[in-house]
This record gives sequence, C-alpha cells and structure tokens, in this order.
Amino acid sequence: LSTAERYSSGTGMNEQKALPDWDALSFRLTETEVVYRAVGESDQKPVWDDGEYGPWGSFPASPAAGVLSYGLGVFEGLKAERTPDGRILLFRPDANAARFARSARIMTMEPFPEKRFVEVCLEIVRRNERFIPPVGKGQLYVRPVEFASEPMLGLRRARSFTVVVYASPVGAYFKGADSGVRLQVLDEARVAPGGTGHAKAASNYPAGIAKREAWQAKGFDDVLFLDARGEGFVTETSGSNVFALFPGDRLVTPPLDDQILPGITRECVIRLAREEFGWTVEEKPLAIADVQAEAVEMFCSGTAWTVRSVGEIEHRGKSTSFSQTAGCQRLCQRLREIQTGTGKDPYGWITEV
Ligand code: COI
Repeated sequence: LSTAERYSSGTGMNEQKALPDWDALSFRLTETEVVYRAVGESDQKPVWDDGEYGPWGSFPASPAAGVLSYGLGVFEGLKAERTPDGRILLFRPDANAARFARSARIMTMEPFPEKRFVEVCLEIVRRNERFIPPVGKGQLYVRPVEFASEPMLGLRRARSFTVVVYASPVGAYFKGADSGVRLQVLDEARVAPGGTGHAKAASNYPAGIAKREAWQAKGFDDVLFLDARGEGFVTETSGSNVFALFPGDRLVTPPLDDQILPGITRECVIRLAREEFGWTVEEKPLAIADVQAEAVEMFCSGTAWTVRSVGEIEHRGKSTSFSQTAGCQRLCQRLREIQTGTGKDPYGWITEV
C-alpha cells in the first residue's frame, strides 16, 4: 500500500486543510495535516520500525486489536506555541517521552524510544505549523498515542503495537468560569487501588467522562475524586492534579501513589512554588475535611487545564468557596512566562522547534 492508501480517506498531501477560527478556539479537535505512525513488534529487533509521516486519515485495524477489547492503550499531551518574538516552543517533550515509555511498561506494552518521541513531536509541530495559533490565541496540542494492535482473544500481553502522533490547535479547556471552576467532590474513585491509575492509560479516563458529564448537567464544571480506599483523601479531577494552599504559604498536593498521575505541570508547580516563591510544598495525603476547613485557595494543574483556580467545591451537600486566587495566579503567570518564552527558563523546560 502507498502511504496515501494506508491513511485511507485522508486529505491528499497537496490539498490544504482549512484553518480554524482563531478567535473561537476551545479544547476540541481540529484535524491537521500530518500524522506520524510507527509499528512495533516485540519479537523483532529493533522492536520499532522507522515510522512514517502521512496525511491525516484513518488506518486499518483488526477488529480483535488488543486495545479494543482490553484497553491496552496509553497517551500523552504536550503543547507548542508561538512566542511574541517569532519562535515556536515545545514544552517539556523529554518529560512526556519518559512518561509515555513508563505508562507503556505499566500497561505491559513496548516502550517507545524517548529520543525518537521528542524528534517526532518536534517534526509533527513543524509539519503542522500552519495550525499553531497566533500569539495569545492558543496552542498546538500534540497527542502521542500507543496501543496494542495485535489481533488477540485471550487475556495476555500483546506483541504488536502502533504509535500515532497527531496535533490539534486548542484554546482554553474551560470557557468562562473566570472566578474558578466548580467541582463536585465524589466519594467514588477515579481508579482502583493497586491498579493503573499512575499510568497515563486510556482506561483511566472513562470514569471521569461519565461522572463529569453527569455533574456538568447540574451546573458543575468537573468532579474531584476521593481516594479509592475510602479514607477521605483528595486525588484528581477527571483530568488534572490538585493542589490546596493553606495559611503561611503551605502548598499541599497528594503524593505520587497508585492513584495519582505524575503530572508534568504538577511537577512544574511544585518546583516554582518551592524554588522561586519559597513556599513550603508538601506531597502528602490531602484530606477533604482539611481542605474544606482550612485551605485558602485550591487549584488544578495539567497540560490541558494549565493552572486553574477552583472557585467552589461541594462534598455531600457541603459547599466551600475560595475567594482568593492570588497564589494560583502567580504560579500560572510564571509558568506561562516560561511556556511563551517571555520569562527566564532556568529549568530547561522549553525546546525551540
Ligand atoms: C492533558 O492535560 O493533556 C490530558 O491529557 C488530560 C485530558 C483530560 C485532556
């Protein structure tokens, strides 16, 4: 098959796709032009083929592909954006590369080479450059995905895998909610203890989709899951890590255990708060009761969410409002300075495309 045939129904390479309305961007998919695809076989050396760049489109899959029955899939999300002085920056691709490989291992899949991951993300940004929003309008979100493509029936690890990397221009994850998001706190858990909640596995997200949509219908923006062991500790929202700020500049976030994703924005927040702001940062269990009784601010972090303040939480009918946002704003501003190349980056977080 030619590349064009393999990516059947894709737009031809010479046909230019329409750009979105930059003023109406939100966090939803806009198809771009070029997609990367590689195939890995556990029984071969090297495991991964060279991969290829092709036009956006579908590609064949076995109805028995492991991902379809058993959820053997992991993904990443990272953003590229334009700077006011005309550069294009990709944020922490090396960190996403390491987590992608780690997630694959947790899910019994072959890790994709980290160096190649970074090269491919940079190339996907370059080849879809037209779709990087103008300064201040949004980012190009790069979505690498790995899944088990081997046809299989019994429950076992797979031997054939596919990696795809595509990109989409995006705007803010939440439209409105300027005074902070409203979260419904759930005694239900996002993931199981001892399970795969610490991997960026596709299968960790359906609970979030179901609960979030149910509570959005009741006026909330998202949900906040308590721990699966039933001990009343905060874990994550449907798609972000969580922080609470207590008097005396004491910032607390749940520790990286089996129910918490090692968020890359989470790690940035911890470093900025500790190293630049001189705050005390504690990675320790965060009781919902303490948040409701004592926290002065609450906020969420993630690639898609960035750093987003929480305006209100409700747990078992008890509502708590957070009127302060100064700490969150300061962190968000500093992070955005680094991401947009307008402030110093002593951490080596940005990579010029
Ligand atoms: C991200 O923040 O990039 C994610 O992958 C979370 C997802 C819910 C959008």
